[in-house]
Amino acid sequence: LLVYAPNHPLLRHWLAVARSKMSPPPIFRAACAELGRLLVYEAAYDWLPVLESQVETPCGVADATVVDGSRPVKVIPILRAGLIMLEQAATMLPASQTFHVGYERNEETLQASSYLNKLPAKFAEDDRILIADPMLATGGTMLQLLADLVGRGASPTYIKIVCIVCAPPALQVLNRDFPGVRVYTAMIDSELNEKGYIVPGLGDAGDRAFG
Ligand code: PRP
Repeated sequence: LLVYAPNHPLLRHWLAVARSKMSPPPIFRAACAELGRLLVYEAAYDWLPVLESQVETPCGVADATVVDGSRPVKVIPILRAGLIMLEQAATMLPASQTFHVGYERNEETLQASSYLNKLPAKFAEDDRILIADPMLATGGTMLQLLADLVGRGASPTYIKIVCIVCAPPALQVLNRDFPGVRVYTAMIDSELNEKGYIVPGLGDAGDRAFG
C-alpha cells in the first residue's frame, strides 16, 4: 500500500484549521474543501488519462496534453463528510462522473453499514476511481466499499483514496486486503481512542460539517 502524506505548507495550514475545535461548521467545511482540492491535485498526477494533441495559439501551433474526456474519472464521495472534500475538487477534473455512497458506523460495535449505494453495475478494469472520505479509522468503511468496487470489476491499481487523517489500524487492513490502492492524506495520526475516533484527529467530521 502506498500512502502519500505530502509535507506541504498549504496542507498543513488547512489541516490545522480543520483540526481546531474553535472552527465553526462553515470554516470546518472550507478547510475540508481546500484539503480535498490539494489532495485531488496530488492524486491526479501521473494517473489521469491524457491525450497528446496540438492547439493553435494566436501566434502559431503548440504541442498540447489534454485530459481524455472520453474516460471520465469515477468520483465516489462517502457520505456524509466525503461530500465536502469533493465539493470543489471535482471541478478541477475536466471529465468526471460522481457516484454517491453512504456508510454509517455503529457507535458501539464500530461496524459500518451501507445506507446508500449509487454505484454503477459494472466498472471497466482501467477506470480511474477516486474515493473521498475525511477519515480512515478502523478502515471498516473503506474495506466494504473497496470490496464492492472490486466485485463490480474495478481494479485496485487504479483506485486512489483521498482522506484528511488516517490511523494505523486502517492502513494495516488496507495493506492486507488491497495493497495496490494508493492513499493521499494530509496526515497519518498515531492512534484510535476507545470510541474508535482518531487521536488527535478531527472529531466527528460529519457532525462538524453538518451539525
Ligand atoms: C466516519 C468517517 C468515515 C468512517 C471512518 O463516518 O467519515 O466514513 O467514520 O471509520 P472507519 O474507518 O472505522 O470505518 P461516520 O460513520 O461517522 O458517518 P458520517 O460521515 O455520516 O458522520
